[in-house]
Amino acid sequence: MGRTRLVAGNWKMHGSRKANRGLLEEVTKAVAQVRGVECAVCVPYPYLGEVAEQLKGTTVAWGAQNVSEHAQGAYTGEVSAVMLAEFGCRYVIVGHSERRQLYGESDAQAAAKFAAVKAAGMAPILCLGETLQERDAGKTEEVVARQLDRVLEKNSFETAVLAYEPVWAIGTGRNATPEQAQAVHAFLRKRVPEKTAILYGGSVKPQNAPAIFAMPDVDGGLIGGASLAAKDFVDIVKAAYVKA
Ligand code: 13P
Repeated sequence: MGRTRLVAGNWKMHGSRKANRGLLEEVTKAVAQVRGVECAVCVPYPYLGEVAEQLKGTTVAWGAQNVSEHAQGAYTGEVSAVMLAEFGCRYVIVGHSERRQLYGESDAQAAAKFAAVKAAGMAPILCLGETLQERDAGKTEEVVARQLDRVLEKNSFETAVLAYEPVWAIGTGRNATPEQAQAVHAFLRKRVPEKTAILYGGSVKPQNAPAIFAMPDVDGGLIGGASLAAKDFVDIVKAAYVKA
């Protein structure tokens, strides 16, 4: 199959210097023995430098959760892609539904952020997904296609990662069934290069990960809550391994 398998933790606004250190100590140790699955953690800005240091020489990569679409300038509180790249950042989450819903980020903004991340030589993890209302109205494909097309209008997808995260499954404990995830992933697969990793996100836990990751078009996961507990996260990383 040849596509990269990837499990990325999205810590969201959680952590402390002490907690991060302990968590990453356990994760790096356990993940060092895992083959065939890339592992990354996307951490809050203040911890990026320290986390980068701790992860040096390990098999765990790191990323950010957001970025400015601008290169530089009078944008108080913002962080540019070039700044992240300077520290060796590998991944940047773009267009997470929490950014879209709580901070009013538009499809166009997600597209501009995506472009900024790629221009700085990093890999965007583009998130898209429908709300429960949109799913119930039969609009899932229409919504994810719109979100993706806006990015594809101005960007090539090479080196980027896609994450399907149904909004109704995020932080709710209610995950998409493997079949629901597979159906959307297969739909998205036709619109991006064959090599693009498409991750599933939304209440992934060690218990449900094996069935979801067994779907042919699911290449790994973007993990929120469960990425904060070392054992859970490592078990999820292991579940993404498939024998060649
Ligand atoms: P949960 O795994 O906590 O549902 O969060 C998913 C998510 O939003 C990852 O980006």
